[in-house]
Amino acid sequence: MRVYTIGKQSGLDHLQIEKRPDPTPGINEVVVRWHATSLNYHDFLVATGGIFVPPGRIPMSDGAGEIIAIGKDVLEWKVGDRVMSMFFPGWTEGLPSLKKIMGVSGEIIDGYMAEQSCVPSYGLTLIPDGYSYAQAATLPCAGLTAWNALMHTGQLKPGQSVLIEGTGGMSMFGLQFAKMAGARIYATTSDNEKAQRLMKMGCEWVVNYKDDPKWGKTIYRKSGGGVDIVLDVGGGSTMYHSIEAAKINAKIISIGILGDGRKGQITFPKLFFKFINLQGIAVGSRVMQESMIRAIEINQIKPIIDKSFGFEDLKEAFEYQASGKHFGKIVLEW
Ligand SMILES: NC(=O)c1ccc[n+]([C@@H]2O[C@H](COP(=O)([O-])OP(=O)(O)OC[C@H]3O[C@@H](n4cnc5c(N)ncnc54)[C@H](OP(=O)(O)O)[C@@H]3O)[C@@H](O)[C@H]2O)c1
Repeated sequence: MRVYTIGKQSGLDHLQIEKRPDPTPGINEVVVRWHATSLNYHDFLVATGGIFVPPGRIPMSDGAGEIIAIGKDVLEWKVGDRVMSMFFPGWTEGLPSLKKIMGVSGEIIDGYMAEQSCVPSYGLTLIPDGYSYAQAATLPCAGLTAWNALMHTGQLKPGQSVLIEGTGGMSMFGLQFAKMAGARIYATTSDNEKAQRLMKMGCEWVVNYKDDPKWGKTIYRKSGGGVDIVLDVGGGSTMYHSIEAAKINAKIISIGILGDGRKGQITFPKLFFKFINLQGIAVGSRVMQESMIRAIEINQIKPIIDKSFGFEDLKEAFEYQASGKHFGKIVLEW
C-alpha cells in the first residue's frame, strides 16, 4: 500500500510517495482503508516546514474510510464501518489536558495520507449518514473547530451575531453552524466575488478586509454595536480588528494565525472596557465530534467543497490552497 511521507527537507517538492507493507491490527486497534482527506492550514504548515515534523511522518490530519480489519478486544467496531479520524485521538471528553492533546494527527503522530493505516479503536467516530468519504474528510479538523468555537466555547444562542473571517474551510463551517443555530452572520473576505457568494448564503454584511483598513470598526457599525462572537483566524493579523468588531461582553475565539499572525499587537483598553472574553481553542474532543455529527444529520448540513484532487495530486492541491482561490474545503479522494 502507498503512503505519502514528509522528506528530509521541508517543502512541497519533498512530499514523497512510499510503498509500505499492509498493516495488521494489534490489540485494541483497527485497520482503516482511507478513501479521502482534506486540506487544512495546519497540513500546509506541516508540509512546508512551518511546523517541524521528523522525516518519514505521514501528513494530513483528516481521514475518512472503511474499517477492513479488527484487532483483539475491539468491541466497538466491525469490518465495513464507515469512519473518520480525530485530530486528537486521545481527547475523548471533558476539558483538554496536555496528555489528551499530545498526539496531533499528521504532526506528532502519523496522519491519514495513506491507503491504509492501523489506528487505536478510540481514535475514530462514525461518519454522518449520507456523507461521502470526501464530505466526511472535511469534518475532523475544520468542522469540529468551528463546532467547538460556536457551540461549546461560544455557547451561541439564537438571535446572537457572529463574525466569520475569510472563506477558508473552518470559516465556512462556522457560517453554516451559525446559520443552523439562528445567528446573524457578518463576514470578511479579500475577494469581491466571494463577498457576493457570502451575501447569497445569508450574511447580513460582508467587508473586504484588503480594501477596508478599518474593517473591524465597519463590522461594529454595520452590526449596530458589535457582534457577540468572533471566530478569529488571523491572530496578530486580525485580533486588533476582531476586538474593534466585538460587542460589550463578546466572546472572541482565537483559532488561527493566517497572514503571518503568530505575534501581534492589540489595544488592551478596548479588551477590558468591552469586558471581552478571549479564549483560545484547538479543534475538539470525541464527544464534541459526535455531537457535531448528530447536528449535521438532523439539519442535513453538507460541507462546501471547492475542489477535489486525486491521491497523486497532493502537491497540486497544496499549491491551490496557497493561491487562496478556494471557498470552503479542498479534498483529495482515492
Ligand atoms: N485552533 C484550531 O484548532 C484550528 C483548527 C482549524 C484551523 N485553524 C486555523 O484557522 C485558520 C484557517 O484555517 P483553514 O484550514 O480554514 O484555512 P484555509 O482553508 O486555508 O483558509 C484560508 C482562507 O482564510 C482567509 N485569509 C487568509 N489570510 C487572511 C487574513 N490575513 N485575514 C483574514 N482572512 C485571511 C482567505 O479567505 P479569503 O480568500 O476569503 O480572503 C483564505 O482563503 C488557520 O490559521 C488555521 O491554522 C485552527
